Amino acid sequence: MKILVLNGSPHKDGATADMVQAFIKGAEEAGHTVSVFRTAFMNVHGCLACEYCRTQEKGICVQKDDMQDIYPAVLSSDMIVFASPVYYFTLSSQLHAVIQRTYSIDIPANVRQTALILSSGSPFVYGPAIEAYYQSIVEYWGVRNAGIFTANGKQNKSEAKRQELYEFGRSLKD
Ligand SMILES: Cc1cc2nc3c(=O)[nH]c(=O)nc-3n(C[C@H](O)[C@H](O)[C@H](O)COP(=O)(O)O)c2cc1C
Repeated sequence: MKILVLNGSPHKDGATADMVQAFIKGAEEAGHTVSVFRTAFMNVHGCLACEYCRTQEKGICVQKDDMQDIYPAVLSSDMIVFASPVYYFTLSSQLHAVIQRTYSIDIPANVRQTALILSSGSPFVYGPAIEAYYQSIVEYWGVRNAGIFTANGKQNKSEAKRQELYEFGRSLKD
């Protein structure tokens, strides 16, 4: 299975990246191919709502920024993993921008499952702004939710969390 991770953390070696690395290790051992985009280091602008992608050239975005690298990856992956630190009770804006820019391609029919990886300082911060939002994407795309994985406070960068994410990656089936 081809897996795409969209990591919205601006910390290259942060807690989100730590979970992502453990996930990748497990997924690769299980025979999957994983690629990662660190969206916080990419030049991705917000959607202009120009509707060019819907009214002029279907599926084509007028903004020629780094989404031009992300679109083909989204459109050729079997699974997408959204990974983000929690910022003000929601995903990072660097991940939000990427998700909202998929408006131009609309539902990626090739994607069959998704997962969510979140890191936060505090517990109980994954409420409607994140989990309900994520569930809405799952339903809109018509995909299987493979799981939501969270780490807060001392769980961040812990061996226990790494093991959990590793086992999740290892367990993935096509
Ligand atoms: C702008 C900003 C907003 C944050 N908002 C929250 C929040 O609402 N709730 C929370 O528990 N942690 C919050 N945090 C803490 C981060 O979620 C936490 O440090 C996380 O582990 C960072 O992950 P990273 O190392 O992958 O970037 C915030 C941090 C920043 C910089």
